[in-house]
Amino acid sequence: MTEVLDTTTSAARLPQLDESALATLFGGARTANSFADTPVSDELLEAIWAHAKWAPTAANTQPLRVLYVRPGAGRDRLVSHMSEGNQAKTAGAPAVAVLAVDTEFHEFIPQVFPINPGMKDFLAGNDEVRGQMAQMNSALQAGYFILAVRALGLAAGPMTGFDNAGLDADFFPVGRLRSLMVVNIGHPAENAWFDRLPRLDAADTVSWA
Ligand SMILES: Cc1cc2nc3c(=O)[nH]c(=O)nc-3n(C[C@H](O)[C@H](O)[C@H](O)COP(=O)(O)O)c2cc1C
Repeated sequence: MTEVLDTTTSAARLPQLDESALATLFGGARTANSFADTPVSDELLEAIWAHAKWAPTAANTQPLRVLYVRPGAGRDRLVSHMSEGNQAKTAGAPAVAVLAVDTEFHEFIPQVFPINPGMKDFLAGNDEVRGQMAQMNSALQAGYFILAVRALGLAAGPMTGFDNAGLDADFFPVGRLRSLMVVNIGHPAENAWFDRLPRLDAADTVSWA
């Protein structure tokens, strides 16, 4: 489904999204603060990852992990770890993704980066580099995850206002996964948005050399 690009020809011209699709992903996309009761199917949640997994990462390391939490006891537990101002948002979402970092992501290197399997041992012995790679690449994957939510016609509410240690002890007791972000997912309720905040424009952000 996502592998439509013909890479067998060097003359391949990459397709470009039309204005409507661009708006769905960027200029028209908003962070939702409340959600309609409309359910979100398991198939749709699976489709999010089927797209988001194509994010590029350094040495193809892919350190991000996703835990989907549904309404019920699991979501109640999750809400208890959210900061006060975020609790109602998570409590009202039909689906919530906890995005977490696999701190032992290097274990997968022979599988995901077979052109240099020795990198596994290098990273096993270098906590600093491994930690930097985990931080950078999981954040990158989280951005793609939000884009995938939007691409599938859903709204995302990413949040980092929660008790990471409490959440990790509760949902990831083994200690290998560390929570990075909680993303509320669903169809937006009426008035689900705050006023749009301004973005920096090119004059403040882009330079040329
Ligand atoms: C990494 C990250 C952490 C965030 N944490 C919170 C949060 O804890 N609580 C909250 O209400 N919104 C949170 N937000 C939402 C942002 O405030 C929001 O995405 C931003 O203001 C842009 O809003 P817009 O997409 O509607 O323009 C977070 C967003 C991101 C990407």
